[in-house]
Formats: sequence, structure tokens, C-alpha cells
Amino acid sequence: MTKSPVGFTLNGSQRAAFADPGQSLLDFLRRGVGDLSPKFGCGQGACGACTVTIDGATHLSCLVLAESVAGREVRTAAGLADGASLDPLQEAFMDHFAAQCGYCTPGMLVSARALLDRNPRPDRAEVIEAISGNLCRCTGYEPIIAAILAVAEGRARA
Ligand code: FES
Ligand code: FES
Repeated sequence: MTKSPVGFTLNGSQRAAFADPGQSLLDFLRRGVGDLSPKFGCGQGACGACTVTIDGATHLSCLVLAESVAGREVRTAAGLADGASLDPLQEAFMDHFAAQCGYCTPGMLVSARALLDRNPRPDRAEVIEAISGNLCRCTGYEPIIAAILAVAEGRARA
């Protein structure tokens, strides 16, 4: 099998690695690039644990071919914090106990960040719609929705 070089931007940094033919972006990010923040939940587009943004739009990285991100901008949950400074969504998830096992959390955070970037003041229905593709087996969703709304409504920690 011939590997292909893929150059792209990951969380603001230029990266390059070799992708196998047919390799998913999820597998490429985790095994090829070493970003373990996108999670393998189902591998077939059903759970949202692998959610990333590509050029600002959310995608399920298990369904995206690694080669297709050449020259594009990929963002993952690993890029949400700025050094020791967490994204307000990460603070709010902690404050609202919005994670238990935490397996869904990176995908939830990426979906929520993408929502707030395009719509800084979403209402509850818009928050629910934005995370509708992200399944959580633990929290029952209310703490997650509350955390996102806290940031949207300016009630989160500064
Ligand atoms: S691992 Fe991609 S949607 Fe479940
Ligand atoms: S916190 Fe466990 S799946 Fe969401």
C-alpha cells in the first residue's frame, strides 16, 4: 500500500504525516499524528465521539478520509485550551459536572465550541440541536446543556 503525505493545519499548527489509503481522519489523527482527543466510539457515524471541525464546520472524523484534509484546517478538543488557560466551555463542563466517564466530552466540546463560534447566544433549542449528534451514555444531557448555556449567557467563570 502506498502512503500519501498529508499536510494540514491542526489546532493552529502546520502538521504533516503519511496516511494509508482509505484511512479515516480519526485513525490518522490518533495513530498518525498523536492527537488522542477525538475518540473512537462507534466508527460508523452514530455517536459523535470523534467530532472535529474542518474549516470551521463540524465533521465526524471516523467518516472522513484522512487525505481529504490536505491543505485544510482541522480543530480538535486538544486545541480548545490555550496553554494552561481552558476554554470557558471546559470550565463550565467542570462547574456543571457535565462529564462522568468523559468519553463523549471531547466531541461535545467541539460541537459546542463550533456552535458558539457561529452563534454566540444560542437558545436552549439551538444548543440541543447542536449536540444532537453527540451521544452521552452517562449524564442525561441536562448538565451538558446547562454548561453550554452558562457560557452562552455569560454566566460561566471569566
Ligand atoms: S466514532 Fe465517529 S461517530 Fe462514533
Ligand atoms: S460522560 Fe460518559 S458518555 Fe458522556
